[in-house]
Amino acid sequence: MTVLVTEATGTTGRRIADLLETAGADVRRAARSSSPGFDWLDPATHDAAFEGAESLYLLPPPATPDPAPVLAPVLERAVRRGLRRVVLLSAAAVERGTPGLGAVQDLVLGTVPEPSVLRPSWFTQNLLGDHLTARGLRAGEVVTATGDGRVPFVDAGDIAAVAAALLLDPAPPEPDVVVTGPAALSYDDVCAVWTEVTGRTARHRPVTVSAMTARLVADGMPADYAAVLAGLDGLIAAGSQARTSDAVLRLTGRAPHSVRDVLREACPVRS
Ligand SMILES: NC(=O)c1ccc[n+]([C@@H]2O[C@H](COP(=O)([O-])OP(=O)(O)OC[C@H]3O[C@@H](n4cnc5c(N)ncnc54)[C@H](OP(=O)(O)O)[C@@H]3O)[C@@H](O)[C@H]2O)c1
Repeated sequence: MTVLVTEATGTTGRRIADLLETAGADVRRAARSSSPGFDWLDPATHDAAFEGAESLYLLPPPATPDPAPVLAPVLERAVRRGLRRVVLLSAAAVERGTPGLGAVQDLVLGTVPEPSVLRPSWFTQNLLGDHLTARGLRAGEVVTATGDGRVPFVDAGDIAAVAAALLLDPAPPEPDVVVTGPAALSYDDVCAVWTEVTGRTARHRPVTVSAMTARLVADGMPADYAAVLAGLDGLIAAGSQARTSDAVLRLTGRAPHSVRDVLREACPVRS
């Protein structure tokens, strides 16, 4: 069975490709930087990537506000040529019938014989590397429009393990899988865990959604995408994103990693 993994150099894609290969699957890694290159926005690259693929880990093209019209002809053609199963990376905050990723959920559920929509909460890996939140933590101040709302941050490794289980299961996968970490934390809580693990103080400064949009734009994000992301902060502030799910334990057989686990693993041990 050939599994096509898009976003194969990204946060979840490379972890999923590694897990599938370890499990013995025939994996094809696809990204613009892979060889041969794969670009959702370049139809000339599609046929070679999808040739013989029965399963797909689907990450829509990043920073494309309306990906469904880009993806629809590619998926329809691939299904005619034998694609059966698609695990789509969406987000816990995105519901069917909404624009953008919501429309992609509808597309996959309506086009593919064995669809599964993976809806992770915010990645714990946002607290590491080059993400704006991570840079804020290292600088001592995290700015969000989440107020005291809470988020069940989820480890990208746990998301990958769930995706791999859904792709490899002999039975058709669950169509809608919300994936979370073990507990919902406010950004005040995150700063406290960061301070405990690293020994360096960080604080959370709440701002309004419009002020957050302006910060994201100032950081280089396109205005329409910045408004969407800051709007999600508003959902967190309203309390709608605090719920946890049992998907990691149920589908992988092990408990999800906490924020503290991931930070301890990634950060140098305090002397
Ligand atoms: N971060 C979160 O908290 C969170 C939470 C829930 C859901 N999500 C979802 O996760 C997704 C993004 O994940 P990420 O930020 O972690 O991604 P990422 O690590 O930045 O990876 C992006 C990947 O996409 C590839 N890529 C970029 N443009 C492409 C194109 N036009 N065609 C084909 N491949 C392309 C990149 O490789 P090349 O540059 O080589 O092409 C790379 O492999 C989004 O859909 C977001 O909604 C994120």
